Amino acid sequence: MLDKKFAESTAESLALIHKESFPDLVKAFSSQFISSLIKNDKVLLVTQEKKGFCLLRLSGKESEIITMAVRPQFQGKGIGYSIILEAIELLKETGCEKMFLEVASNNIRAIRLYSKLGFNKCGLRKQYYKNSNGKNIDAIIMEKNLMGLAL
Ligand SMILES: CC(C)(COP(=O)(O)OP(=O)(O)OC[C@H]1O[C@@H](n2cnc3c(N)ncnc32)[C@H](O)[C@@H]1OP(=O)(O)O)[C@@H](O)C(=O)NCCC(=O)NCCS
Repeated sequence: MLDKKFAESTAESLALIHKESFPDLVKAFSSQFISSLIKNDKVLLVTQEKKGFCLLRLSGKESEIITMAVRPQFQGKGIGYSIILEAIELLKETGCEKMFLEVASNNIRAIRLYSKLGFNKCGLRKQYYKNSNGKNIDAIIMEKNLMGLAL
C-alpha cells in the first residue's frame, strides 16, 4: 500500500499529464480518482516521471489498460512504447497471461502503437466514447497474449 501523501502528490501530477494528453476527452481523470486507483493493490502504475504513464488493472491471469498518456511534447519519441514494454514485463512476473485495452477507433497513433506491440483487435463497442463535440466514437477492444516468447 502506498503512503497516502505520496499517492496524493503522484496522483496530482498524473492528473495533469492526463488532462494535457487528452484535450478532447470530456472528462479527464481527476487526481482523486487516480489516487484511488494507485492505492488499489490490483492496479499497476508504470510511469516515466513527468512524461507519461499507464495504469493497468490486474484480474487473475488477465489485465486491462485503464488509461495511458504521454504528454504532447514527449509523444512520438518511443515513450509510450517503452512504458507498455515495461508493463508487459511486470505483468509476466505476476503470472498474467493476457492483456486487454479499449481504444477510440479514430486514435490512429495509439492503435498503431498497440499493433506494433502485438495487440490484436478482438471486439468493438459501438459509440462507446463521446468527444467534446458531442460526437460518439466506437471503441476497439484489443488483446495481447503474454504467453509466447515474441513481443
Ligand atoms: C497514444 C500515446 C500513448 C502513444 O505514446 P507515444 O509516446 O507518443 O508513442 P511512441 O513514440 O512510443 O510510438 C510512436 C511510434 O514509434 C513507434 N516506436 C516507438 N518506439 C519503438 C521501438 N523501440 N521499436 C519499434 N517501434 C517503436 C511506435 O510503434 C509508433 O509508431 P508510428 O511512428 O508508426 O506511429 C500518446 O500519443 C498519447 O498519450 N496520446 C494521447 C492520449 C491517448 O491517446 N492515449 C491512449 C488511449 S488508448
